Amino acid sequence: MDDKRKDEIWILGATGKVGRALAGRLAAARIPGVVLVGRSTERLAAIADTLNGSVRTRQLAGVAEMLAAVPRERPLVVINLLGSYAETAIPLAKACMPDGHYVDLSIDINTLSGLVDLHGEARAANSTVIGGAGFGVLATEALVVRLCEGQPTPSRVQIDALSSYAPDDGVMGEALAITSVDVMSMGGRAYRDGILTPVPLGSNLRKHALPDGTAVKSAAVPSGELFAARQASKAPTIDFTSALAPTSPLIRPALPLLSRLLKSPTIRRTMITSLAASKTKRAPRPRPHSWGHAVVDWADGTRRESWLRADDAMDYTADVLTAVVRAFVDGTAPRGAFTPAAALGPGLATDAGATFIDG
Ligand SMILES: NC(=O)c1ccc[n+]([C@@H]2O[C@H](COP(=O)([O-])OP(=O)(O)OC[C@H]3O[C@@H](n4cnc5c(N)ncnc54)[C@H](OP(=O)(O)O)[C@@H]3O)[C@@H](O)[C@H]2O)c1
Repeated sequence: MDDKRKDEIWILGATGKVGRALAGRLAAARIPGVVLVGRSTERLAAIADTLNGSVRTRQLAGVAEMLAAVPRERPLVVINLLGSYAETAIPLAKACMPDGHYVDLSIDINTLSGLVDLHGEARAANSTVIGGAGFGVLATEALVVRLCEGQPTPSRVQIDALSSYAPDDGVMGEALAITSVDVMSMGGRAYRDGILTPVPLGSNLRKHALPDGTAVKSAAVPSGELFAARQASKAPTIDFTSALAPTSPLIRPALPLLSRLLKSPTIRRTMITSLAASKTKRAPRPRPHSWGHAVVDWADGTRRESWLRADDAMDYTADVLTAVVRAFVDGTAPRGAFTPAAALGPGLATDAGATFIDG
Protein backbone atom coordinates (compact mmCIF):
# COMPACT_ATOMS: atom_id res chain seq x y z
CA MET A 1 0.00 0.00 0.00
CA ASP A 2 1.21 3.53 -0.80
CA ASP A 3 1.57 5.03 2.69
CA LYS A 4 1.92 8.65 1.55
CA ARG A 5 -1.14 10.85 2.23
CA LYS A 6 -2.92 12.27 -0.81
CA ASP A 7 -3.09 16.07 -0.71
CA GLU A 8 -6.89 15.86 -0.67
CA ILE A 9 -9.41 17.64 1.52
CA TRP A 10 -12.58 15.59 1.85
CA ILE A 11 -15.80 17.32 2.85
CA LEU A 12 -18.10 14.56 4.18
CA GLY A 13 -21.68 15.86 4.05
CA ALA A 14 -20.81 18.29 1.26
CA THR A 15 -24.44 18.46 0.06
CA GLY A 16 -25.60 19.95 3.39
CA LYS A 17 -25.98 23.61 4.31
CA VAL A 18 -22.56 24.02 5.91
CA GLY A 19 -20.90 21.72 3.35
CA ARG A 20 -22.08 23.82 0.41
CA ALA A 21 -21.01 27.06 2.11
CA LEU A 22 -17.59 25.62 2.94
CA ALA A 23 -17.03 24.20 -0.56
CA GLY A 24 -17.66 27.68 -2.00
CA ARG A 25 -15.19 29.28 0.40
CA LEU A 26 -12.42 26.71 -0.21
CA ALA A 27 -12.90 27.07 -3.98
CA ALA A 28 -12.81 30.90 -3.72
CA ALA A 29 -9.62 30.67 -1.65
CA ARG A 30 -8.14 28.43 -4.40
CA ILE A 31 -7.26 25.73 -1.88
CA PRO A 32 -6.37 22.74 -4.07
CA GLY A 33 -7.44 19.11 -3.66
CA VAL A 34 -11.01 19.71 -2.43
CA VAL A 35 -13.24 16.63 -2.85
CA LEU A 36 -16.99 16.87 -2.17
CA VAL A 37 -18.13 13.55 -0.67
CA GLY A 38 -21.81 12.61 -0.47
CA ARG A 39 -24.51 10.04 -1.20
CA SER A 40 -25.98 11.54 -4.36
CA THR A 41 -23.93 11.84 -7.55
CA GLU A 42 -26.44 14.32 -9.02
CA ARG A 43 -26.48 16.65 -6.00
CA LEU A 44 -22.67 16.56 -5.73
CA ALA A 45 -22.36 17.40 -9.45
CA ALA A 46 -24.84 20.28 -9.11
CA ILE A 47 -22.66 21.86 -6.38
CA ALA A 48 -19.40 21.24 -8.26
CA ASP A 49 -20.94 22.88 -11.38
CA THR A 50 -21.52 26.11 -9.44
CA LEU A 51 -17.80 26.10 -8.54
CA ASN A 52 -16.61 25.93 -12.15
CA GLY A 53 -15.08 22.48 -11.83
CA SER A 54 -12.46 23.61 -9.28
CA VAL A 55 -13.44 20.78 -6.91
CA ARG A 56 -13.87 17.05 -7.47
CA THR A 57 -16.73 14.86 -6.28
CA ARG A 58 -16.88 11.38 -4.83
CA GLN A 59 -20.06 9.39 -4.31
CA LEU A 60 -20.08 7.04 -1.30
CA ALA A 61 -23.31 5.35 -0.23
CA GLY A 62 -23.27 6.16 3.49
CA VAL A 63 -21.31 6.59 6.70
CA ALA A 64 -19.96 3.00 6.66
CA GLU A 65 -18.58 3.45 3.14
CA MET A 66 -17.01 6.79 4.11
CA LEU A 67 -15.44 5.23 7.20
CA ALA A 68 -13.94 2.45 5.06
CA ALA A 69 -12.71 4.85 2.36
CA VAL A 70 -10.76 7.24 4.64
CA PRO A 71 -8.04 4.79 5.83
CA ARG A 72 -7.92 3.18 2.37
CA GLU A 73 -7.55 6.36 0.31
CA ARG A 74 -5.76 8.49 2.93
CA PRO A 75 -6.88 12.08 2.29
CA LEU A 76 -4.78 14.67 4.17
CA VAL A 77 -7.85 16.32 5.74
CA VAL A 78 -11.34 15.04 6.59
CA ILE A 79 -14.07 17.59 7.44
CA ASN A 80 -16.99 15.75 9.03
CA LEU A 81 -20.29 17.59 8.46
CA LEU A 82 -22.43 14.44 8.61
CA GLY A 83 -23.84 15.15 12.08
CA SER A 84 -24.70 12.13 14.27
CA TYR A 85 -21.39 12.96 15.91
CA ALA A 86 -21.90 10.55 18.80
CA GLU A 87 -21.46 7.75 16.24
CA THR A 88 -19.31 9.30 13.50
CA ALA A 89 -16.76 11.62 15.17
CA ILE A 90 -14.37 9.29 17.01
CA PRO A 91 -14.23 6.51 14.37
CA LEU A 92 -13.59 9.07 11.61
CA ALA A 93 -10.96 10.94 13.66
CA LYS A 94 -9.15 7.65 14.29
CA ALA A 95 -9.46 6.71 10.61
CA CYS A 96 -7.40 9.84 9.76
CA MET A 97 -4.42 8.60 11.80
CA PRO A 98 -1.53 8.46 11.12
CA ASP A 99 -0.53 11.71 9.38
CA GLY A 100 -4.05 12.88 8.44
CA HIS A 101 -6.13 15.61 10.09
CA TYR A 102 -9.75 15.74 11.20
CA VAL A 103 -12.20 18.56 12.00
CA ASP A 104 -15.93 18.61 12.80
CA LEU A 105 -18.79 20.67 14.25
CA SER A 106 -19.59 18.34 17.14
CA ILE A 107 -21.20 20.15 20.01
CA ASP A 108 -22.31 17.48 22.47
CA ILE A 109 -20.19 17.30 25.60
CA ASN A 110 -19.47 13.56 25.47
CA THR A 111 -18.34 13.61 21.85
CA LEU A 112 -16.17 16.67 22.31
CA SER A 113 -14.50 15.28 25.43
CA GLY A 114 -14.11 11.90 23.69
CA LEU A 115 -12.33 13.60 20.79
CA VAL A 116 -10.01 15.54 23.12
CA ASP A 117 -9.24 12.24 24.91
CA LEU A 118 -7.58 11.14 21.64
CA HIS A 119 -4.83 13.73 22.30
CA GLY A 120 -1.98 11.29 23.04
CA GLU A 121 -2.96 8.97 20.20
CA ALA A 122 -3.21 11.85 17.72
CA ARG A 123 0.16 13.33 18.75
CA ALA A 124 1.88 9.98 18.42
CA ALA A 125 0.25 9.56 14.99
CA ASN A 126 1.38 13.02 13.75
CA SER A 127 -2.29 13.98 13.32
CA THR A 128 -4.44 16.93 14.40
CA VAL A 129 -8.02 16.43 15.57
CA ILE A 130 -10.25 19.49 16.19
CA GLY A 131 -13.84 19.08 17.43
CA GLY A 132 -16.48 21.81 17.55
CA ALA A 133 -14.91 24.17 14.99
CA GLY A 134 -17.95 26.41 14.43
CA PHE A 135 -19.71 29.39 16.01
CA GLY A 136 -20.91 26.96 18.68
CA VAL A 137 -17.85 26.32 20.93
CA LEU A 138 -15.39 28.81 19.36
CA ALA A 139 -17.49 31.95 20.01
CA THR A 140 -17.29 31.40 23.78
CA GLU A 141 -14.07 29.37 24.07
CA ALA A 142 -12.00 32.11 22.39
CA LEU A 143 -13.26 34.64 24.96
CA VAL A 144 -12.49 32.41 27.94
CA VAL A 145 -8.98 31.68 26.63
CA ARG A 146 -8.33 35.43 26.23
CA LEU A 147 -9.78 36.42 29.61
CA CYS A 148 -7.91 33.69 31.53
CA GLU A 149 -4.54 33.99 29.74
CA GLY A 150 -1.78 34.52 32.34
CA GLN A 151 -4.32 34.70 35.21
CA PRO A 152 -4.79 32.41 38.22
CA THR A 153 -7.68 29.93 38.12
CA PRO A 154 -10.98 31.85 38.27
CA SER A 155 -13.77 30.95 40.69
CA ARG A 156 -16.63 31.22 38.19
CA VAL A 157 -17.25 31.50 34.44
CA GLN A 158 -20.55 32.43 32.75
CA ILE A 159 -20.65 32.01 28.96
CA ASP A 160 -23.46 32.73 26.49
CA ALA A 161 -23.72 31.84 22.78
CA LEU A 162 -26.18 34.20 21.10
CA SER A 163 -26.31 33.19 17.47
CA SER A 164 -28.34 34.89 14.75
CA TYR A 165 -28.66 33.40 11.27
CA ALA A 166 -30.87 33.72 8.24
CA PRO A 167 -32.88 30.56 7.55
CA ASP A 168 -33.28 29.42 3.95
CA ASP A 169 -36.25 27.78 2.21
CA GLY A 170 -36.09 24.05 2.93
CA VAL A 171 -36.30 21.70 5.90
CA MET A 172 -34.34 21.55 9.12
CA GLY A 173 -32.62 18.30 8.00
CA GLU A 174 -31.73 15.19 9.97
CA ALA A 175 -28.22 16.27 11.08
CA LEU A 176 -29.46 19.36 12.93
CA ALA A 177 -32.57 17.52 14.17
CA ILE A 178 -30.39 14.84 15.82
CA THR A 179 -28.19 17.52 17.43
CA SER A 180 -31.27 19.34 18.80
CA VAL A 181 -32.94 16.18 20.14
CA ASP A 182 -29.70 14.97 21.77
CA VAL A 183 -29.34 18.35 23.53
CA MET A 184 -32.96 18.28 24.74
CA SER A 185 -32.80 14.68 25.94
CA MET A 186 -29.61 15.18 27.95
CA GLY A 187 -31.24 17.84 30.17
CA GLY A 188 -29.28 20.89 31.38
CA ARG A 189 -25.69 20.74 32.64
CA ALA A 190 -23.31 23.08 34.47
CA TYR A 191 -20.01 22.63 36.32
CA ARG A 192 -20.30 22.66 40.11
CA ASP A 193 -17.13 22.02 42.14
CA GLY A 194 -15.47 21.02 38.87
CA ILE A 195 -18.02 18.27 38.18
CA LEU A 196 -20.50 18.28 35.31
CA THR A 197 -23.81 18.42 37.18
CA PRO A 198 -27.46 18.23 36.01
CA VAL A 199 -29.44 21.50 36.09
CA PRO A 200 -32.94 21.96 34.65
CA LEU A 201 -32.95 22.42 30.86
CA GLY A 202 -33.96 26.02 30.13
CA SER A 203 -33.00 27.30 33.62
CA ASN A 204 -30.71 30.32 34.20
CA LEU A 205 -32.89 32.53 31.95
CA ARG A 206 -30.79 35.55 30.95
CA LYS A 207 -31.81 38.77 29.17
CA HIS A 208 -28.94 40.38 27.30
CA ALA A 209 -28.66 44.01 26.24
CA LEU A 210 -26.24 43.49 23.34
CA PRO A 211 -23.46 45.96 22.50
CA ASP A 212 -25.20 46.79 19.17
CA GLY A 213 -28.35 48.00 20.98
CA THR A 214 -30.48 44.90 20.31
CA ALA A 215 -31.61 42.40 22.94
CA VAL A 216 -31.96 38.61 23.21
CA LYS A 217 -32.79 35.98 25.82
CA SER A 218 -30.87 32.77 26.50
CA ALA A 219 -31.14 29.78 28.83
CA ALA A 220 -29.19 26.72 29.96
CA VAL A 221 -28.50 23.87 27.54
CA PRO A 222 -25.97 21.01 27.88
CA SER A 223 -23.48 21.87 25.20
CA GLY A 224 -19.79 21.43 24.35
CA GLU A 225 -19.14 25.09 25.14
CA LEU A 226 -19.15 24.05 28.81
CA PHE A 227 -16.42 21.47 28.26
CA ALA A 228 -14.25 23.89 26.24
CA ALA A 229 -14.63 26.61 28.91
CA ARG A 230 -13.65 24.15 31.64
CA GLN A 231 -10.54 23.11 29.65
CA ALA A 232 -9.60 26.77 29.11
CA SER A 233 -10.27 28.09 32.65
CA LYS A 234 -10.24 25.13 35.09
CA ALA A 235 -12.94 27.15 36.95
CA PRO A 236 -14.96 25.01 39.40
CA THR A 237 -18.25 26.76 38.55
CA ILE A 238 -19.24 27.23 34.91
CA ASP A 239 -22.65 28.07 33.45
CA PHE A 240 -23.57 28.19 29.78
CA THR A 241 -26.67 29.56 28.09
CA SER A 242 -27.71 29.63 24.45
CA ALA A 243 -30.12 31.82 22.51
CA LEU A 244 -31.21 28.58 20.77
CA ALA A 245 -32.69 27.27 24.05
CA PRO A 246 -36.46 27.67 24.32
CA THR A 247 -37.01 30.80 26.44
CA SER A 248 -40.79 31.18 26.14
CA PRO A 249 -42.52 31.08 29.56
CA LEU A 250 -45.04 28.64 28.06
CA ILE A 251 -42.45 26.07 26.91
CA ARG A 252 -39.72 26.28 29.58
CA PRO A 253 -41.72 24.54 32.35
CA ALA A 254 -42.32 21.55 30.01
CA LEU A 255 -38.63 21.05 29.11
CA PRO A 256 -37.60 18.76 32.01
CA LEU A 257 -40.52 16.44 31.14
CA LEU A 258 -39.56 16.55 27.44
CA SER A 259 -35.97 15.58 28.38
CA ARG A 260 -37.30 12.51 30.19
CA LEU A 261 -39.67 11.53 27.37
CA LEU A 262 -36.87 11.74 24.78
CA LYS A 263 -34.98 8.94 26.58
CA SER A 264 -37.49 6.54 24.94
CA PRO A 265 -35.97 5.39 21.59
CA THR A 266 -39.41 5.49 19.92
CA ILE A 267 -40.20 9.05 21.03
CA ARG A 268 -36.64 10.12 20.14
CA ARG A 269 -36.96 8.71 16.60
CA THR A 270 -40.42 10.27 16.11
CA MET A 271 -39.18 13.65 17.29
CA ILE A 272 -36.08 13.50 15.01
CA THR A 273 -38.23 12.58 12.01
CA SER A 274 -40.73 15.35 12.62
CA LEU A 275 -38.10 18.02 13.37
CA ALA A 276 -35.97 16.98 10.35
CA ALA A 277 -39.00 17.44 8.07
CA SER A 278 -40.07 20.74 9.63
CA LYS A 279 -40.07 23.45 6.99
CA THR A 280 -37.81 26.50 7.18
CA LYS A 281 -38.57 29.68 5.26
CA ARG A 282 -36.09 32.14 3.85
CA ALA A 283 -36.02 35.15 6.19
CA PRO A 284 -33.58 37.81 7.30
CA ARG A 285 -31.59 36.97 10.40
CA PRO A 286 -33.38 38.09 13.58
CA ARG A 287 -30.55 40.30 14.83
CA PRO A 288 -27.72 42.01 12.93
CA HIS A 289 -24.97 40.10 14.73
CA SER A 290 -24.19 36.84 16.47
CA TRP A 291 -22.52 37.26 19.84
CA GLY A 292 -20.37 35.20 22.15
CA HIS A 293 -20.22 36.51 25.71
CA ALA A 294 -18.08 35.60 28.73
CA VAL A 295 -17.90 36.90 32.30
CA VAL A 296 -15.05 35.55 34.45
CA ASP A 297 -14.86 36.08 38.23
CA TRP A 298 -11.88 35.55 40.52
CA ALA A 299 -12.00 34.89 44.27
CA ASP A 300 -10.47 38.34 45.02
CA GLY A 301 -13.51 40.05 43.46
CA THR A 302 -11.89 40.78 40.08
CA ARG A 303 -14.36 40.44 37.19
CA ARG A 304 -13.52 40.51 33.46
CA GLU A 305 -16.11 40.51 30.69
CA SER A 306 -15.79 40.31 26.92
CA TRP A 307 -17.91 39.91 23.78
CA LEU A 308 -17.22 38.32 20.40
CA ARG A 309 -19.16 39.83 17.50
CA ALA A 310 -19.72 37.87 14.29
CA ASP A 311 -22.33 38.27 11.56
CA ASP A 312 -24.51 35.33 10.42
CA ALA A 313 -23.59 32.35 12.67
CA MET A 314 -23.85 29.79 9.82
CA ASP A 315 -21.62 31.89 7.55
CA TYR A 316 -19.21 32.35 10.43
CA THR A 317 -19.13 28.57 11.01
CA ALA A 318 -18.07 28.04 7.38
CA ASP A 319 -15.43 30.79 7.82
CA VAL A 320 -14.04 29.08 10.94
CA LEU A 321 -13.79 25.74 9.10
CA THR A 322 -12.02 27.51 6.21
CA ALA A 323 -9.46 28.99 8.64
CA VAL A 324 -8.90 25.55 10.21
CA VAL A 325 -8.38 23.93 6.79
CA ARG A 326 -5.84 26.67 5.97
CA ALA A 327 -3.95 25.85 9.19
CA PHE A 328 -3.92 22.15 8.23
CA VAL A 329 -2.70 22.88 4.71
CA ASP A 330 -0.08 25.43 5.88
CA GLY A 331 1.14 22.97 8.53
CA THR A 332 0.58 25.43 11.42
CA ALA A 333 -1.82 23.27 13.46
CA PRO A 334 -0.20 21.54 16.46
CA ARG A 335 -0.38 17.76 16.65
CA GLY A 336 -2.90 16.28 19.11
CA ALA A 337 -6.65 16.52 19.77
CA PHE A 338 -8.23 19.81 20.78
CA THR A 339 -11.18 22.16 20.93
CA PRO A 340 -10.69 24.96 18.34
CA ALA A 341 -9.15 27.81 20.37
CA ALA A 342 -7.02 25.32 22.34
CA ALA A 343 -5.53 24.20 19.00
CA LEU A 344 -5.11 27.48 17.15
CA GLY A 345 -5.54 30.17 19.84
CA PRO A 346 -8.25 32.81 20.13
CA GLY A 347 -6.83 34.38 16.95
CA LEU A 348 -8.73 31.68 15.04
CA ALA A 349 -11.93 33.56 15.92
CA THR A 350 -10.64 36.82 14.40
CA ASP A 351 -9.01 35.05 11.43
CA ALA A 352 -12.56 33.85 10.66
CA GLY A 353 -13.85 37.43 10.74
CA ALA A 354 -15.09 38.02 14.32
CA THR A 355 -14.22 41.02 16.51
CA PHE A 356 -13.52 41.02 20.26
CA ILE A 357 -15.13 43.80 22.32
CA ASP A 358 -13.91 43.95 25.91
CA GLY A 359 -16.48 45.08 28.47
N1 LIG B 1 -21.02 23.81 16.05
C1 LIG B 1 -21.64 24.69 15.26
O1 LIG B 1 -21.47 25.89 15.39
C2 LIG B 1 -22.53 24.19 14.17
C3 LIG B 1 -23.04 25.08 13.23
C4 LIG B 1 -23.81 24.59 12.18
C5 LIG B 1 -24.07 23.22 12.11
N2 LIG B 1 -23.60 22.38 13.06
C6 LIG B 1 -23.81 20.92 12.95
O2 LIG B 1 -23.11 20.48 11.79
C7 LIG B 1 -23.80 19.40 11.18
C8 LIG B 1 -24.07 19.74 9.69
O3 LIG B 1 -24.98 20.84 9.62
P1 LIG B 1 -25.78 21.18 8.29
O4 LIG B 1 -26.68 22.31 8.64
O5 LIG B 1 -24.84 21.32 7.14
O6 LIG B 1 -26.66 19.83 8.11
P2 LIG B 1 -27.45 19.33 6.82
O7 LIG B 1 -27.78 20.47 5.91
O8 LIG B 1 -28.56 18.47 7.31
O9 LIG B 1 -26.37 18.40 6.06
C9 LIG B 1 -25.97 17.14 6.55
C10 LIG B 1 -25.08 16.47 5.51
O10 LIG B 1 -24.69 15.19 6.00
C11 LIG B 1 -25.11 14.18 5.06
N3 LIG B 1 -25.57 13.00 5.78
C12 LIG B 1 -26.41 13.00 6.85
N4 LIG B 1 -26.60 11.72 7.25
C13 LIG B 1 -25.87 10.94 6.42
C14 LIG B 1 -25.66 9.54 6.32
N5 LIG B 1 -26.23 8.67 7.17
N6 LIG B 1 -24.84 9.07 5.35
C15 LIG B 1 -24.24 9.94 4.50
N7 LIG B 1 -24.42 11.27 4.53
C16 LIG B 1 -25.22 11.76 5.49
C17 LIG B 1 -26.25 14.82 4.26
O11 LIG B 1 -26.31 14.15 3.01
P3 LIG B 1 -27.62 14.16 2.08
O12 LIG B 1 -27.62 15.51 1.38
O13 LIG B 1 -27.38 13.01 1.16
O14 LIG B 1 -28.81 13.99 2.99
C18 LIG B 1 -25.75 16.25 4.16
O15 LIG B 1 -24.76 16.36 3.16
C19 LIG B 1 -25.08 19.21 12.00
O16 LIG B 1 -24.83 18.17 12.94
C20 LIG B 1 -25.26 20.52 12.75
O17 LIG B 1 -25.93 20.34 13.98
C21 LIG B 1 -22.83 22.83 14.09
